[in-house]
Amino acid sequence: MAENLPYSEQVMDHFLHPRNVGDMPDADGVGTVGNPVCGDIMKMFIKVKDGIIVDVKFKTFGCGAAISTSSMVTEMVKGKTIDEALKISNKAVAEALGGLPPIKMHCSVLAEQALRSALADYYRKTGKDPSAFEPKPDTHGHD
Ligand code: FES
Repeated sequence: MAENLPYSEQVMDHFLHPRNVGDMPDADGVGTVGNPVCGDIMKMFIKVKDGIIVDVKFKTFGCGAAISTSSMVTEMVKGKTIDEALKISNKAVAEALGGLPPIKMHCSVLAEQALRSALADYYRKTGKDPSAFEPKPDTHGHD
C-alpha cells in the first residue's frame, strides 16, 4: 500500500537526527516498552539527581515516528522534576513535533510509556511505590 504520509519538518528532523540516542550503563531507571502489533520496541534510560532528571537516553527499534517521538520526549524531559516529567503526555510530544498523522499517534503513546516505565523503575529501585508511574494501559489500536 503506497502511502505518502504528511510528516512535519520537526518529525523528519528528529527522525534523521535523533537526540540522546544510546545506552546509559549507570542509569537510575530503565524502561522498555513495545507495541505487540507492530513489534516496535523502545528503551529509555534516566539519570536522576536531587529529584531532577539530569540525563536521558533512548534506543528505539521501530518506525520513523517512534524514533522521532522518543527523541522529542528525551528533549522535553531533560532538566525536569519527576512530577513535571509525569505530566508529559503523548499528545504534548506529538504537538511539540508539529503533529503526527492520526495513524501514527500510537507511536507517541509508546514514547510516553517508555518514559513512565523508566520513572517506575527508578521509583522501584529507590524503594518507593511505583504504581502511580506504571504506564497507562495502551488504549489505542494499531492501524
Ligand atoms: S508503527 Fe508501531 S510504534 Fe510506530
